Amino acid sequence: MRRLWHAVIFHAMGQQSKSKAKRKTSAWYQRHANDPHVKRAQAEGLRSRAAFKLTEILDKHQLTVKRNAVIVDLGCAPGSWCMELAQRVGDDGLVVGVDLLEMQPVSRVSFIQGDFTEAKTLAVVKDAVGERRVDMVVSDMAPEMSGNKLVDQALTIGLNDETLSFAVNHLREGGNLLLKTFMGEGFDAFRREMNGWFAAVKIVKPAASRKTSSEIYLLGTGFRRPLPNQE
Ligand SMILES: C[S@@+](CC[C@H](N)C(=O)[O-])C[C@H]1O[C@@H](n2cnc3c(N)ncnc32)[C@H](O)[C@@H]1O
Repeated sequence: MRRLWHAVIFHAMGQQSKSKAKRKTSAWYQRHANDPHVKRAQAEGLRSRAAFKLTEILDKHQLTVKRNAVIVDLGCAPGSWCMELAQRVGDDGLVVGVDLLEMQPVSRVSFIQGDFTEAKTLAVVKDAVGERRVDMVVSDMAPEMSGNKLVDQALTIGLNDETLSFAVNHLREGGNLLLKTFMGEGFDAFRREMNGWFAAVKIVKPAASRKTSSEIYLLGTGFRRPLPNQE
């Protein structure tokens, strides 16, 4: 599947026009400043409004985070999910956060700066997790949007693929996966693939996710490893 997506990206990149690249406009900043979730995040000292998306999903879907859980947070900067997760897992738990960007330290979080899709970053993440089975993988990663829908969607599904493959290798039986994605080419096939690994897969759109944004989350609960003769 990965090779197919690389081919799609390569093809679409050839058609990409720089003039179409999206830039954050003053209208975007205006909307951001007036956003009630942004205001609430600032008032509560949270690093980003994304915090509300995670708490809503965890609460609404009754995803209990055990005090000693091991969680991997992909695309974690500036760190509002990490802060929430670190609080929930407590001193005996472990949160490993990964991002391309720097992140101000969050207590109890092992932060790794790097591109999650690169083998050298993945190796460091694997080292940080060690022999432990992971209770939950969360990913809020999205590619840098170019404005070319085909390219952006292909990159998104590529990131989703890498995330699922990490989750499949590291989750404990019964573990959960939450990842950000976008509806479009490749979404249905990706969801079907996820269906094969989890007892249930739901599409989730938290209230804190802007209605104008086509982002959605896929929540896979009850990870199940196939029996050897089914592989
Ligand atoms: C929406 S932000 C995450 C916000 C975060 N959940 C929070 O609560 O603060 C998405 C992040 O994904 C990161 N990202 C995108 N692609 C990535 C990749 N290939 N490897 C690591 N991080 C990536 C971006 O750098 C960005 O910081």
